[in-house]
Amino acid sequence: MTGLKLEEYLEKWVRGEAEEIVEYLAAAIVAEEQGLVEVAQALKMIAFEEAMHGAKALVQAGKVGDLKEFIRKRIEEEKEAARVRHEEASHHDEPWKTLFEYTARDEERHARILEGILRKLG
Ligand SMILES: [Fe+2]
Ligand SMILES: [Fe+2]
Repeated sequence: MTGLKLEEYLEKWVRGEAEEIVEYLAAAIVAEEQGLVEVAQALKMIAFEEAMHGAKALVQAGKVGDLKEFIRKRIEEEKEAARVRHEEASHHDEPWKTLFEYTARDEERHARILEGILRKLG
């Protein structure tokens, strides 16, 4: 396998894993709503393992780089995601408005958590 093919495969692979994670977790939410707790737990476990497949591939490909640089980049991206989500919320009625705002606040919280980690790393 050539380097380019591996690079192409890696991108598709990681994107595929990411889609699977979201879909497994969506199914887990539905299972929880139906009171199927064990089913939900199994689906969450699979989602986590899919996440780890993509994560290990990224690490092995050297895509993470310097930890502090990574965290700084993510802080900006979390803040931007929050900004865009709040903006989107302003164009929608319920129940989408609440979901957009709720998840925007999560993104803001992620940024604050990462800022705390960055301070601790010094
Ligand atoms: Fe996988
Ligand atoms: Fe986030």
